[in-house]
Amino acid sequence: MSRSRTSSELELFLPLHRSDSLPLYRQLERELRDSVRAGRLAADAPLPSTRALAAQLGVTRGVVVSAYEQLSAEGYLVSRPGGSTRVARISGFADPVPIVLRREFRLDFRPGRPDVNEFPRAAWLRSLRRVLGEAPSDRFSYIDGRGMPELRSAMAVYLNRARGTRISPDDLIICAGVAQGLQLVAQALRAGGAQRIGVEEPWHPEYRRMLEGTGLQVVAVPVDAAGIQIDLVDQANVDAVVVTPAHQYPTGGVLPPERRAALVAWADRRDAIVVEDDYDAEFRYDRVPVGAMQGLCADRVVYAGTASKILAPGLRLGWLAVPPRLRESIARAKLAADQGSSALDQLAMADFVDRGELDRHLRRMRLVYRRRRDALLAALERHLPTWRPAGASAGLHMLAWLPAGCDEARLVAAAAERGIGIHGLAATCFLPGPPGGIVFGYGSVDERRIPRGIAELAEVVADSVAPGHDERR
Ligand SMILES: Cc1ncc(COP(=O)(O)O)c(C=O)c1O
Repeated sequence: MSRSRTSSELELFLPLHRSDSLPLYRQLERELRDSVRAGRLAADAPLPSTRALAAQLGVTRGVVVSAYEQLSAEGYLVSRPGGSTRVARISGFADPVPIVLRREFRLDFRPGRPDVNEFPRAAWLRSLRRVLGEAPSDRFSYIDGRGMPELRSAMAVYLNRARGTRISPDDLIICAGVAQGLQLVAQALRAGGAQRIGVEEPWHPEYRRMLEGTGLQVVAVPVDAAGIQIDLVDQANVDAVVVTPAHQYPTGGVLPPERRAALVAWADRRDAIVVEDDYDAEFRYDRVPVGAMQGLCADRVVYAGTASKILAPGLRLGWLAVPPRLRESIARAKLAADQGSSALDQLAMADFVDRGELDRHLRRMRLVYRRRRDALLAALERHLPTWRPAGASAGLHMLAWLPAGCDEARLVAAAAERGIGIHGLAATCFLPGPPGGIVFGYGSVDERRIPRGIAELAEVVADSVAPGHDERR
C-alpha cells in the first residue's frame, strides 16, 4: 500500500534557546527565515501544523502561530486554505543549485559507459524484493570489512566459472567498484612497506591520480599493441603493478600468454604484487575468451572486478580477490573507509548472480554491444578510412589512431562544439609524445545513430582539423 508523508511527520532542525533574551517566537521566526534563505527548507516544502511543530519544539502553539504569521506576512511562507503552510517560491535565493556531474553531449562517444537504459530493472527488482523479504535481520546490521557472505559465495562461483579464476569466498572483499578497490590495495601495500607502484602507460587518468593520492610513487610503464612490456616492468623497480590484461585500457591490447607468465615470474622474483583490473572482460566478440591472470597465480595477483560495465556504474559494487598476505589489511582499510558497502545491494547482487540473471543479461548485452561495435567499425571505414582502429575485439571501447597531421586536441574541441563527445588518447597519457588517437566508447550509443554520428565527425575533421588544413581560412 502506498503511503505518503504528512507534513506533521517532518523533522525540522530549529534550535531555540530559552536562556536567550530574544522571545521564543522571534527565535523561531529567525530560524525559519534563515532556513528558507539558505535553502535548507526548499520552495514548496510543507511545514508541520502549528500544533505538531509546537509539540516537536516543546513550546506553546501560540509561539508557532506568531512565527508562521510573521513569515507569511514577509512572503517566506504561504498558508493554504485548510490550514497547511508551505515554504513560498521566492526567486533570488534558495533556488536549488544544479549539480553538473558531467558535460552532456548530443552524441556521446566517450569511453567508460555501458548502456544504463538497458539495466535489467525487472530482474533486479525481483532480487531486491526477495532479499528484503527473506534475508535474516542481522544482515542489515554492521558487517565485517569483507562484505556479505552471500555475495562472496556467488561471485566466487561466477568468477571461477566465467573468468577462470581460482577464488574461494574467503578470498573476496566487496568494495565500491575498482576505484575503491585500487585505493584499498594501495593503502595495504603502503602499510606493508611498498613505495613504488607501476601503472600502464597510457591508462585511466583518474585512477592514476587516485593512486598518487595514496602516497605511493606511481611509475608509468609503456604498453605496446600487446599490452604491458614486461622488461620495462622489470626496469621500473616497482613493488606492484596494475595491469588490464584482458583488454588494455585504452589501447585494447590483449596480454599474450608468454607475457602473463613473464609477469608472474617477475612478481615471484621481486616478491611483488600484480593487480589485475578485469573491468570489461565479459564483453568479447570475435576472439576466444581469455581467462583472468589470477587463475595462474593466486598468491601474487590481486584480482579486481566491477559491476560497472556488466550492470551499471551507479551500483558502485566491485570485488577484490586477495592473496592471504594482504587480506587482513585490505579488509581493515575497507572498514576504515566506509564500514562496508550497502548490504541490500550486495544481497540483491548475490541473488541476481545465483539465479543466472547476470549470465542472461550478459548474453543479451553482448549482442547489443557487438552490433554497436560493428556499426562503429563500418562507419569509420566508410567516413574516416585513414583512421586505424585497434583493440576492437572486446570491451565497450576501441581506439582509432589518427593519421599524421590530424590534431587530436583540436578535433576533440571542435567535435564538442558540435555536441559530439569524443575522448583524446592524450588524456590517458602521462609521458609525452604518443601519436594522436581517439578512444571511442560505443556502449551507450544506439547503433542506428552511429553512422550519422561518424559522418558528422568526418565533417568536423574536414572543416577544421584535416591534415593540411589551412588555419588562415
Ligand atoms: C580501466 C578501467 N578500470 C575500471 C573501470 C571501472 O571502474 P569502477 O569499478 O570504479 O566503476 C573503468 C571504468 O571506466 C576503467 O576504464
